Amino acid sequence: MRFILKCAAVAAVAGVAAAASLPAVAQQSKPEDLLILRQGLMQTLKSQWAPIAGFAAGKGELPADAAQRAENMVMVAKLAPIGWVKGTENLPKGETKPEAFGAKSAEFLEGWKTMAAESTKLAAAAKVGPDALKAQAAVTGKVCKACHEEFKQD
Ligand code: HEC
Repeated sequence: MRFILKCAAVAAVAGVAAAASLPAVAQQSKPEDLLILRQGLMQTLKSQWAPIAGFAAGKGELPADAAQRAENMVMVAKLAPIGWVKGTENLPKGETKPEAFGAKSAEFLEGWKTMAAESTKLAAAAKVGPDALKAQAAVTGKVCKACHEEFKQD
């Protein structure tokens, strides 16, 4: 009897563990969750970029951590493609044009490589000085703009 009870308890615990972990795994790959991930990555990119862009536009102080911010942008640019995987094409709240997933997907991915490259240069420029940072910020900002014009819905 005690043996049976113990087995039942183990089975119950195992059942709870399975129930707790399986939906979590399934949820991660739900398209809606991937869209949250995608838009979160973009908001992270913006959070790192905005003070540099503000400085370059003459609207703010030189951020003391500009080089670190630019390095963080490199990381986000490298991660970004995980937010645009197959199955996330037609979400009501998504703002990506279908071409990014189809005919122009190679160009879209190339855009993230360009973003990473121009952010790497931004980090280097930040270490040189304010004028170099401003000059490279103009180039880096154009990468955001170019991709949005081509692949982001209004
Ligand atoms: C290679 C393409 C590409 C590059 C480069 C890029 N973006 Fe985006 N961005 C997109 C697309 C596509 C969307 C629309 C995402 C969606 O909702 O489906 C977007 C959306 C956004 C959003 C809105 C996110 C939300 O919450 O809905 C912000 C903010 C943003 N981008 C900022 C930036 C900034 C800042 C840069 C440059 C430092 C940048 N992006 C560079 C493609 C790009």
